[in-house]
Amino acid sequence: MSFTGSKSQAEAANSFRSLLSNILPDLLREVDGSSKVEKVKAALRDVSQNYRTGLSTASLRYRTDWKEAANRCAYVFVYLIQHCNLVFYSLMQASERGTVSDYWSDLSTLNVCSVGGGPGSDLVGLTTFLEQSHVYPRMLNCLVLDLYPTWKRAWDAIAYYLPRQHWVSYKRCDLVGDAGLSADVLQFVRDADLVTLVKSFSAAAAFLRADRSRGSALRAILREIKPGCHVLYIDNDHDGDSQFRNDFADPAGLDLMFEERDFQSVPSGSYSEIVNKYCSALDFNPMKGCDVNIQLYRKKFPVKKYVSSGYTYHTPQNEIEACCCGIFGGLLCIAVCGLIGYGVYRLIRYIF
Ligand SMILES: C[S@@+](CC[C@H](N)C(=O)[O-])C[C@H]1O[C@@H](n2cnc3c(N)ncnc32)[C@H](O)[C@@H]1O
Repeated sequence: MSFTGSKSQAEAANSFRSLLSNILPDLLREVDGSSKVEKVKAALRDVSQNYRTGLSTASLRYRTDWKEAANRCAYVFVYLIQHCNLVFYSLMQASERGTVSDYWSDLSTLNVCSVGGGPGSDLVGLTTFLEQSHVYPRMLNCLVLDLYPTWKRAWDAIAYYLPRQHWVSYKRCDLVGDAGLSADVLQFVRDADLVTLVKSFSAAAAFLRADRSRGSALRAILREIKPGCHVLYIDNDHDGDSQFRNDFADPAGLDLMFEERDFQSVPSGSYSEIVNKYCSALDFNPMKGCDVNIQLYRKKFPVKKYVSSGYTYHTPQNEIEACCCGIFGGLLCIAVCGLIGYGVYRLIRYIF
């Protein structure tokens, strides 16, 4: 696997900029009424305010309603490029460490579950990575689980401009609620090779902190994924960052492959005339960088062992425990046999 480093990053960033330029008019058209730009301008203020100060509060007052087309347009305008770039960058880092692409290069089908995937930034970053690293599978199947499946409208606008088409389905899933996963979602999750959680955990984190019994959907996803499945977590870098690892990743048996905490910025480049027009009309610019915490996990491989009732699976930790028990049991056996042997020897000597 070879990357031309910053060149591939610059190319990727340019493709994200041109995607934004293509889809903005489509997203603006979806906004109701005549004062569309004014509505998106107001939405921008709310969305960025919620992200700056509201996420730490467990209240729906500080969460955005993504059913509103103006909110979706505002979000895509500010965050799409940055979030696509974060996913692309993270997978590139993983690939340079030999963690991801070595697994995927032999697969004819790659199944991806994007949790809180929104407009599909995770998928755009992923497909750009697959393209540039030449590990594009013959089939790419994506399931986006989100509290607002209406994001699919933004995805349809995006997908139209992507070089390749894939199977992408949106299903409602609440990371905070208690509802279980439906049978078809569970089946997809069990076949997934990658789960992405990009800036979505933070939308639920305050609620999950306030009531630790919540989060059954996320626990079920991480429990059900198969050994070897990767989980890419990207979120804002702040004090609560260990919450995902402590409360969800570790208990589900995920191995941390690498972690990075840093300021990540989009490689510089110029915007199209259309994006520049939006910048001046909205009096706002797309985000160029932010502090993030990137964590890449892989589900542990269990060890297959034969027991009297057939084959059973042990996690590596169970395996070590079983091995220690075996050694201890063996030593105990030798000691007991030795004692019995010595007793018999003394008895024979006594008799004769
Ligand atoms: C900041 S956006 C991130 C979207 C996308 N991953 C990206 O990077 O552009 C947060 C996403 O989480 C979703 N979300 C918010 N609360 C959620 C919840 N309780 N359960 C599931 N998804 C949720 C939102 O609808 C939104 O799509």
